[in-house]
Amino acid sequence: MKTYLITGGAGFIGSNFIQYMFNKYKEEIFIINVDKLTYAGNLDNLKKIENLNNYRFFREDICNEKNLDKIFKIYDIDYVVNFAAESHVDRSIEDPSIFVKTNILGTQTLLEITKKYWKTKNGFKEEKKYIQISTDEVYGSLGESGYFTEKTPIDSHSPYSSSKASADLITKAYYDTYKMPINITRCSNNYGPYQFPEKFIPLIISNCINNKQIPVYGNGKNVRDWLYVEDHCVAIDLVINKGIAGQVYNIGGNNEKRNIEIVKYIICALKNKGLNVDEDLIRHVEDRQGHDRRYAIDSTKIKAELGFNTLIDFNKGMLKTIEWYLNNKEWLNKIVNGNYMNYYEKFYSKR
Ligand code: NAD
Ligand code: DAU
Repeated sequence: MKTYLITGGAGFIGSNFIQYMFNKYKEEIFIINVDKLTYAGNLDNLKKIENLNNYRFFREDICNEKNLDKIFKIYDIDYVVNFAAESHVDRSIEDPSIFVKTNILGTQTLLEITKKYWKTKNGFKEEKKYIQISTDEVYGSLGESGYFTEKTPIDSHSPYSSSKASADLITKAYYDTYKMPINITRCSNNYGPYQFPEKFIPLIISNCINNKQIPVYGNGKNVRDWLYVEDHCVAIDLVINKGIAGQVYNIGGNNEKRNIEIVKYIICALKNKGLNVDEDLIRHVEDRQGHDRRYAIDSTKIKAELGFNTLIDFNKGMLKTIEWYLNNKEWLNKIVNGNYMNYYEKFYSKR
């Protein structure tokens, strides 16, 4: 039985990944979830699996070396998958410091503890793997054409993406220096169930449900490459099992859309489901500072080398996502009626 240490497992992608893994491997795996439960961490995301015998949760900060050490002492961990991060670009523009702490120092702390328990006299124990979950944002921004490949130079812009780029480099250093078995995955924008409604797609859905204006930054022509979260989980599982140590793998959805297209798409889909919404909810607001123009991933490497393919196309993924939010209004309301309102006021009232 393989033991996984998942960090950030009560956030959007981490909680989807844990559920995906239990659905796929059932009792064959043991998962330990370490999460600090910041504003973005939500144990409601894991209600379906929280009582499983082969699951443990620890409320812990990845910067806390001592307490991570205790966990490694108890469990013989085979795989570490580091999702834990401050993940929202807008918040990083407001206050970069926590991004540096969690995303850079936290990653280095986790790498160091992992090395301590996996290192042998001659190298590393066999069949161990550390996966750093990174982002396409480390590559910077594209013009109208071209794609990010794994060879594209790092050219991050926001405090968020720069902290993730730093984490990538320190992770790479553990391979280059110690030959620690690591992989780095860089994926495009995820969407799907359990995404915190500060992010664009759930924010649009939430605002439509609550009949609030939809803030579109600038002219709305910025492009993102959307990946359904379950496809991302499939890719991570492949990298854990088949990825070559030291390698970086890009993961994209091959679904480029302008932001304004996404807004109109969701309004139309919700209208078709009987919601009384209209495009007059759209409000163009002040642009994000340093707003990256376009992200687009070239996934050739993970497809050719590990056999990855997306299974859920954009229409299917969006339908699943919209239906999930409509069927889980309690989940959404709990967030929207909490501290979220203060955040929303602070970030949007002056725009
Ligand atoms: P999220 O914000 O929804 O979740 C992050 C989780 O990390 C939360 O549960 C939070 O409580 C936890 N966390 C934060 N600081 C911590 C700390 N110091 N110690 C322990 N736990 C901590 O983020 P997400 O969207 O699920 O993203 C997960 C990872 O994937 C991140 O590393 C992010 O950079 C990366 N990523 C996300 C996307 C995307 O579109 N969402 C795309 C590419 C890469
Ligand atoms: O590309 C991967 C990255 O995608 C991840 O690394 C990040 O963790 C994740 O947050 C995401 O970053 P983005 O900045 O691309 O995502 P966000 O949902 O914040 O915004 C998507 C686009 O929508 C972006 O061009 C900004 C725009 N936007 C966003 C918000 C929140 C708006 O126009 N209005 C909004 O209110």
